[in-house]
Amino acid sequence: MRTQVVIIGGGPSGLLLSQLLHRKGIDTVVLERKTRDYVLGRIRAGILEVGFVDLMREAGVGARLDRESHIHDGTVIAYEDQEFRIDFKEMTGSHVVVYGQTEVTRDLYDAREAMDGKVVFNAEGVTIHEADGDAPYVTYEKDGSTHRIDCEFIAGCDGFHGVSRQTIPLDVRREYEKLYPFGWLGVLSETPPVHDELIYSGSERGFALCSMRNENLSRYYVQCSLSDTPEDWSDDAFWTELKRRIPSKYAEALVTGASIEKSIAPLRSFVTEPMRWGRLFLCGDAAHIVPPTGAKGLNTAASDVHYLYNGLVQHYHDGDSHGIDTYSEKALARIWKAERFSWTTTNLLHRFPDQSEFDLKMQLADVNFLRDNVNAQKVFAENYIGLPY
Ligand code: FAD
Ligand code: DHB
Repeated sequence: MRTQVVIIGGGPSGLLLSQLLHRKGIDTVVLERKTRDYVLGRIRAGILEVGFVDLMREAGVGARLDRESHIHDGTVIAYEDQEFRIDFKEMTGSHVVVYGQTEVTRDLYDAREAMDGKVVFNAEGVTIHEADGDAPYVTYEKDGSTHRIDCEFIAGCDGFHGVSRQTIPLDVRREYEKLYPFGWLGVLSETPPVHDELIYSGSERGFALCSMRNENLSRYYVQCSLSDTPEDWSDDAFWTELKRRIPSKYAEALVTGASIEKSIAPLRSFVTEPMRWGRLFLCGDAAHIVPPTGAKGLNTAASDVHYLYNGLVQHYHDGDSHGIDTYSEKALARIWKAERFSWTTTNLLHRFPDQSEFDLKMQLADVNFLRDNVNAQKVFAENYIGLPY
């Protein structure tokens, strides 16, 4: 088989890139290791930047998103029993959009299917060959036989544990990583959200986040130990802990119910440089990870897709390779800023095992500065709604 761009990974980055390129007449094949249901079963991001929403519209998949998503003009920051609001609209004139990653992915799969896009599920042992030459190809196993796809470019959209990044030789690749000594335990429940905006809450017992998907679907997180498993947390234990970490006004109003999903994610900051090696381009979690405080993971994946998509269109339509030649540089410039925001927001609101009394005073001073200083709120809001592409 032959195509123009092989896309490894059928998560949001791979599907969005494939959908955008297809509409510009550029042929792609997506290779996904799992099944569609498996990918849709992963409950992850919930907050989209406007830049992401615009890209979904450009990909022709904005209709349901526009109908069913919710605009958020601000967020609540709480610390112990105090709270304040950051008004995105007032600070930046913009907002964020609440629409789950599951729904984004579902819309993209439906659109790929409707356009007869080639998506191969259960593609095992995907291997990249000769990405640093002029005739790259990708092989994979399916149904007991080996398949080969010759191509012009390869987009590595295969997440943090994928093969694409590992294909770049160690003497070319530079990795930067910070591991945090805790994780997030997330619960999805068919209950009304405790508040009409998100609540990011720091407390003596650790961080908590109250988020949502719609009027009757709530998403909550609590900071937990890295050694915890979801089975260690009964629903009761989760609700009790969440209530202890949010201001009493919300704890009293919280409607609890049975969890329909419960999972733990470790927190990590990670960046690999460069994001291009020959004809291979890395996109999304394959190249970088942020801790989830700040909701930047899926949104940085989308900005990579934006740069790569425009670069490939420029290459194929205008014969100009400037966009793909500057892809890594442009994508990384934006990513490092999202890394900074996610790292500072994590430090602002989590409890670290080795925090001294002095460290805690500094954390409180940071929170109070944000509460009292309109410029600090503006900086927070600009980062949260998403820096320009
Ligand atoms: P992935 O979603 O990881 O997709 C990669 C795909 O590649 C997968 O389907 C995988 O099966 C496939 N794959 C892997 N290896 C191979 C292989 N060898 N061959 C073929 N296929 C392969 N981000 C936000 O912006 N906002 C949020 O609110 C937010 N909240 C989050 C909450 C949690 C609990 C977590 C865990 C993450 C959150 N994120 C958030 C991050 C966001 O979910 C990720 O950044 C996003 O999924 C990245 O998309 P991706 O397509 O790059 O990678
Ligand atoms: C959600 C996740 C986040 O990491 C975040 O910062 C905001 C919302 C969510 O899953 O809804």
